[in-house]
Amino acid sequence: MKIKILTSIVGLWLLASCAAGLSDSQDLQEQKIRQIISEMTLDEKIGQMQQSNDGFFGDDEATKQAIRDGKVGSFLNMVGAERIAEFQRVALEESKHGIPLLFGRDVIHGFRTIFPIPLGIASSWEPDLAQEAMRVSAVEASSMGINWTFAPMMDVTWDPRWGRIAESCGEDPLLASKFAVAMVKGFQGDLNDPTAVAACAKHFVGYGMSEAGRDYNTTYIPEPLLRNVHLRPFKAAADAGVLTFMSAFNDLNGVPTSGNEFTLKHILRDEWGYKGMVVSDWASIEEMIAHGFAADKKQAAEISVKAGVDMEMASTCYADNLKQLIKEGVISEDLVDNHVANILRVKMEMGLFDKPYDNHVSTDTILAPSHLKVSRELARKSMVLLKNNDNTLPISKNIRSLAVIGPLADAARDQLGTWIFDGNGDDSTTPKEAFGEILGNRMNYSSGLEYSRDKSTKGFAKAISAAQNSDAILIFAGEEAILSGEANARGIIDLPGIQTELITELKKTGKPLILVVMAGRPLGIGAEMDMADAVLYAWHPGTMAGPAIADLVFGDFSPSGKLPVTFVKGAGQIPFYYYRKNTGRPATENDVVYIDDIPRDSKQLSLGFKSMHIDYGITPLLPFGYGLSYTEFKYDNLKLSSKEMSTDGAITLSADIRNIGNYEAEEIVQLYIHDKVGSITRPIKELKGFEKINLKPGDVKNVSFELKAEDLQFYNGDDYIIEPGDFEVWIGPNSDEGLKGSFVLK
Ligand code: BGC
Repeated sequence: MKIKILTSIVGLWLLASCAAGLSDSQDLQEQKIRQIISEMTLDEKIGQMQQSNDGFFGDDEATKQAIRDGKVGSFLNMVGAERIAEFQRVALEESKHGIPLLFGRDVIHGFRTIFPIPLGIASSWEPDLAQEAMRVSAVEASSMGINWTFAPMMDVTWDPRWGRIAESCGEDPLLASKFAVAMVKGFQGDLNDPTAVAACAKHFVGYGMSEAGRDYNTTYIPEPLLRNVHLRPFKAAADAGVLTFMSAFNDLNGVPTSGNEFTLKHILRDEWGYKGMVVSDWASIEEMIAHGFAADKKQAAEISVKAGVDMEMASTCYADNLKQLIKEGVISEDLVDNHVANILRVKMEMGLFDKPYDNHVSTDTILAPSHLKVSRELARKSMVLLKNNDNTLPISKNIRSLAVIGPLADAARDQLGTWIFDGNGDDSTTPKEAFGEILGNRMNYSSGLEYSRDKSTKGFAKAISAAQNSDAILIFAGEEAILSGEANARGIIDLPGIQTELITELKKTGKPLILVVMAGRPLGIGAEMDMADAVLYAWHPGTMAGPAIADLVFGDFSPSGKLPVTFVKGAGQIPFYYYRKNTGRPATENDVVYIDDIPRDSKQLSLGFKSMHIDYGITPLLPFGYGLSYTEFKYDNLKLSSKEMSTDGAITLSADIRNIGNYEAEEIVQLYIHDKVGSITRPIKELKGFEKINLKPGDVKNVSFELKAEDLQFYNGDDYIIEPGDFEVWIGPNSDEGLKGSFVLK
């Protein structure tokens, strides 16, 4: 028997709002919005739907005139606090209806104080800290007049080739949802406060599934996968009150997402009852022509306006065509009014009609010590210890000498990562600087290579000699910021250039070899991991990379990050994500036949008819959720409050986690389930909860999770259902290990 629940969130929303009615203040706000719209000309309404890049209308005088004439509802990339205040003054005081402007900017992982790239932030598994970091970002950005950020990006992705994996929170929908909500709360804070910055749930939706990881590429996502994975962070953000959404670049199942009625109208508005505003991505309306979905800008405007995009970023399909489309009766003016209402609602929710336009908090908050402190803490918590043979790490601050090698040890700008419009390399403390400060002349620094893709070995001799003269080697390898981020897709995900050759040479010195990887994606570093005694994955850690790495390398803190994405052995293994399906022919480790073991004259038709790669085998390089610590944790005593759960009930699962090592450290305890039989096949594991705990040596903590029947709900192609049956459950340190139990959902 299957139990259908009232899935239609619309239904619930309608019920709720009918029961409660709109609050008086909301009523008043809606009346005010409709009043303004009734006084606007059609041109002015269409103007509100236009977001233009700074300089689009010409110099500042021309820009002011455009604002007075109501030709624009928002700008992006405008800089200068006073300049922005002046434009806002013109909008409020000199335009006919006094409608304020939204000033948008990509404040993705920091404004001037830069935090780790979002993939690094997600490795902390600490949404509260991400919220704090985005609050800091909002305080800094708002002090420069920014009142809208195009963040957080909540695209779920399985593809390390995709450069924008750096901007994502990885592969898991629950983890991504938790971070999406935290970041929205951080940016928006209290909307009445001058430091509030409207957040933007982007890119709606499915963009992270771009074929072959090539940016802007086609996506095909069946509805169950769309709903069970990709829509979840967006729904969580909508529920958390995110003020804006951004439609994406990708073609989803044949319909570009910036003209997609199913996602923008049916799901976002009708099902979810979303009241905020939708902006297109940069020229993504016009790009429907290149997609082959619109013949010209006029048709592109028609498709997007009907589908539900309220504001057009950068291109001018709306500005040039909406009036004509109304005149021809293709669309109604009411439709335009509704879009404008969505835009004005956001401006009102932000209090922009009433807030003084020059009330920016003082810019001395920029790079404030308290901001740098959050940046350092988050950087430290974002790094993942992947290997640590024989306790190579931490090393003593009293070490006789340490070789610090690699171009990324002193790459002030690159350590900030991708998407940092306002970040400045001069604000960074690099590892070379941080280690130099601690060790003085006991640090032997040599870059070895000039940059990651350098093909010249001319720096090798010096680097090798620095290593020979030291007690241990710290080699910084990876990618510069430009190798990840938008449009920067890679087909090969190995260390670029001849960094591996440099590591091979350093290995020959016989000195302890510690590899620190700085990168915007999970790289295929199997060979390098084999050579190194210890590996710390640092992502692009931001302004405080140097001090944060030193904190961990010298053992002031234990690493605590865990991978938010599966690490593959090589690009050929993609996609490889932990919640994959079992297949009809799952292989075990024993089934795997490796290519080198196949007899030359083998006449066999197959090597066992199992689902495997004869080169990679069946395991990834490292599983989702993985990360080591300087201490060791023992998981024990799994308990389920009941072996049965009713379809509207819950059970509690708990385990004891004991620190059996010598370091005080944090551990991220993870809860996974497996729904054994379903009306559609179910993933082999699904993350259902996580908790970070701190334990002193010898301490034990009982960690418990409440698992509700509704957490087991999924979309099966027809409906959202909670399906009775057998479940396996694990509490463990990563997606591959853990204490296992089971229960029945009845
Ligand atoms: C990106 C968005 C970004 C926008 C504005 C686009 O190219 O896809 O993520 O917010 O530009 O800069």
